[in-house]
Amino acid sequence: MKIAVRYYTQTGNTKKLADAIAQALGVEAESVAQPLEEETELLFLCNSVYWAGIDRHVKQFVKENAARIGTLVNVSTAAMIDSTFSQMRKLAAGAGVKLCEKEFHCRGKFSALHAGHPDAADLEAAKAFAKEIAE
Ligand SMILES: Cc1cc2nc3c(=O)[nH]c(=O)nc-3n(C[C@H](O)[C@H](O)[C@H](O)COP(=O)(O)O)c2cc1C
Repeated sequence: MKIAVRYYTQTGNTKKLADAIAQALGVEAESVAQPLEEETELLFLCNSVYWAGIDRHVKQFVKENAARIGTLVNVSTAAMIDSTFSQMRKLAAGAGVKLCEKEFHCRGKFSALHAGHPDAADLEAAKAFAKEIAE
């Protein structure tokens, strides 16, 4: 199965998750600046929320790579909101991309909030999630 991991990060939290997931799956995590080179059955798209929204680079990636995404798996960090899943659902629907109903979310450090997150337990949980989805 062709699996890819892409991430967008501003302060490093989401890259930690992406790297953990990629390691668990035996692939490399790459930035959303890297387009998908081929049809990808499972895309783990690791993203976050900034001032209440998914970053425009993530939106652009989904739109531009939609034809090569089999199923998009949402992976997110945030300080306050529960996850970016509802925003990703709209984004994926708009681009005609199938979204996995299962997602992974954990807290990400933001200023004085959630120091140390994602932590080791978060990364282990992300790895277990990725393996379960890719089974
Ligand atoms: C500029 C900025 C704006 C943010 N706005 C929100 C927000 O509106 N809601 C929220 O839950 N978290 C917000 N956060 C927290 C981030 O979603 C959280 O720290 C996330 O883990 C950042 O991921 P990154 O380190 O990969 O960039 C914000 C963080 C930054 C840096």
